[in-house]
Amino acid sequence: MASSVACISPHNDESLSLSQISVFPMGIPSDLPPEARGEASNRQRLAGRRILVVGAGTRASDEPDPPVGNGRAIAVLAAREGAGVACVDVDAEAAQATAAWIVREGGRGFAVIADVADAAACDRLVSESVERLGGLDGAVLNVGIAAGAGLDGTSAESWDFTFAVNLRAHFLVARALLPQLAAGGSIVFISSIAGLRPGSLLPAYDASKAGLIGLSRHVALEGARRGVRANVVVPGLIDTPLGRLASRGRPSRDRTPVPLGRQGTAWEIAYATVFLLSHEASYITGQTLVVDGGLTGIR
Ligand SMILES: NC(=O)c1ccc[n+]([C@@H]2O[C@H](COP(=O)([O-])OP(=O)(O)OC[C@H]3O[C@@H](n4cnc5c(N)ncnc54)[C@H](O)[C@@H]3O)[C@@H](O)[C@H]2O)c1
Repeated sequence: MASSVACISPHNDESLSLSQISVFPMGIPSDLPPEARGEASNRQRLAGRRILVVGAGTRASDEPDPPVGNGRAIAVLAAREGAGVACVDVDAEAAQATAAWIVREGGRGFAVIADVADAAACDRLVSESVERLGGLDGAVLNVGIAAGAGLDGTSAESWDFTFAVNLRAHFLVARALLPQLAAGGSIVFISSIAGLRPGSLLPAYDASKAGLIGLSRHVALEGARRGVRANVVVPGLIDTPLGRLASRGRPSRDRTPVPLGRQGTAWEIAYATVFLLSHEASYITGQTLVVDGGLTGIR
């Protein structure tokens, strides 16, 4: 697969005085609330719902105790909140590990192996999930890769491949999915602050993540006729194995002065996503929810 290190921070400048905003190293403080640590008790906010998560694994890490990735945290949290979850990923081991985590906790989850760069696989993953879950009430399109480096370092092939995985797949899955969702259904696209501001140095990543916002608005428009909602969650700097890889490639990422003083956890992305999947968000559609500790909103 032609993926490489993602440098996801859109902020290379440090124009705001560092004395105004504390700068934390890569670690996550231990005194976060249980929700941010993935340790809160469940509230059955998705009871009885059937959810598809695309990109439900987490990239492999050589660290002894790596953090969880966004897709895995979303799938596990959705199951804890009462949903049955189809865990889709190209990496069979990663998808199975997420499904096994859900089952170990007493939830309902299973792996579906699919490479979303393959257009036919996008249709198949929806039909297989519908068949095994007996229908679908929601979906999270979390899959995302990054390739290239600057304009000169981005080939036409890596541009096309990035767009196939980061945007075309989301269109294909949404197209197959929409007729399957009944009123009350919800689709959540996972973008990135790289889609709002420049700075990742990965033009195909930035452009595909920005494209998701346009796609989501269209899906929201078509979905509204059927009572189906579509929204985007936009993560900032998140401490996942991919985030740590990005920081190894560009150490200044860890010195980004985030107003809340730290990187986010995948569980914090998962809580925003579960909210949008749930009936708590029943009047919210066509929106973009930025989860970045204030990085793009306050700086
Ligand atoms: N970590 C961050 O700081 C950050 C910031 C902003 C946005 N995001 C976005 O969050 C999402 C998840 O990021 P993560 O940090 O958890 O990374 P991750 O690499 O751990 O998760 C992505 C998952 O997608 C799967 N995948 C990749 N290509 C696929 C394909 N062709 N078909 C099916 N599955 C495929 C991978 O196997 C992996 O399990 C991505 O869309 C990323 O762009 C992450």
